[in-house]
Amino acid sequence: MTHIHIPKGWELPESDITPESMFLNRRDFLKAAGFLGAATVALAGCAPGDPEVLEHRPEANLTPLEKTLYPARRNLEYKIDRKVTPPRVAGNYNNYYEFSETKEDVGHHARALPTQNWTLEVEGLVNKPQTFAMEDLLKLMPLEERFYRMRCVEAWAMVVPWTGFPLKALLDKVEPQSTAKYVEFNSFYMPFTAQGQLAFWQPWPYSEVLSIQEAMNEMTLMATGIYGHPLPKQHGAPLRLVVPWKYGFKSIKAVARIRLTDYGPPTFWNTVLPSEYGYVANVNPNVPHPRWPQTKEKMLGTGEELYTQMHNGYGDFVGDLYL
Ligand code: MTE
Repeated sequence: MTHIHIPKGWELPESDITPESMFLNRRDFLKAAGFLGAATVALAGCAPGDPEVLEHRPEANLTPLEKTLYPARRNLEYKIDRKVTPPRVAGNYNNYYEFSETKEDVGHHARALPTQNWTLEVEGLVNKPQTFAMEDLLKLMPLEERFYRMRCVEAWAMVVPWTGFPLKALLDKVEPQSTAKYVEFNSFYMPFTAQGQLAFWQPWPYSEVLSIQEAMNEMTLMATGIYGHPLPKQHGAPLRLVVPWKYGFKSIKAVARIRLTDYGPPTFWNTVLPSEYGYVANVNPNVPHPRWPQTKEKMLGTGEELYTQMHNGYGDFVGDLYL
């Protein structure tokens, strides 16, 4: 028997990603093309049975609903010019201070988070405040896949395919009032499950804030998945924010509450250490940091050093927000 190595999607440069999949939902494409098994892994970037991914989500069997949703259609508006970070690398190097201060341990400790029956409360200055069951959100929202860069203020970077929906689609459902200027996000508060939260001197739960214009920007994604799967817990299951033109700490994990306000509420890191964690926190190589270099970044996995770009290279999408 001949064994052919079929490279996975994240091993391929952007130019090599199957062009047909640009126009078809890749699930339909794969069905239409009659590909199964190993070929599915190669073309979809990642399939439900891929052991590399399941390894990082051992607690999860896909629900029947999830099976219909993943992998989602890729939105090719968002191009990448770097190699995709392998899931094993991204899933073993995480920041999640509720669970551990050691990046390599987060995946293990975060398994304790109960993500079943998760709800998301959306409230504040909206006409239709609502609490969504996660399952209903998944049915209601337009899921798509987007390959985004991520740049941490600690000077490491990665490229990953997120699955999610634009935050705007959710905010439109609750109808923001004209006085709403900011959108605040809170994670869960479970100090006996997430032992980092026993540090009572820190302002738990983790929180972040965007301006209403940033929140409504097309790039602002609520991610429910990564690598063609539901999010593993270390990446913020079941629902996290992804704002790739900002430093990684703005992309809050395990979001439980969203609140629209007419003032700028405090945020977790900006309260703990304002000299190191800005409030707006746009990626900017011209603003030095007391601890980490900001002109260059190191790619996770390869260690390749690349120049950091203004707005993490997303100026065309978000530059207008800051004129
Ligand atoms: N969200 C919560 N709830 N808790 C955290 O500690 N860390 C942030 C952000 N979201 C964090 C969080 C930081 S500092 C980074 S760099 C990113 O998550 C890391 O995301 P990743 O582990 O999926 O790469």
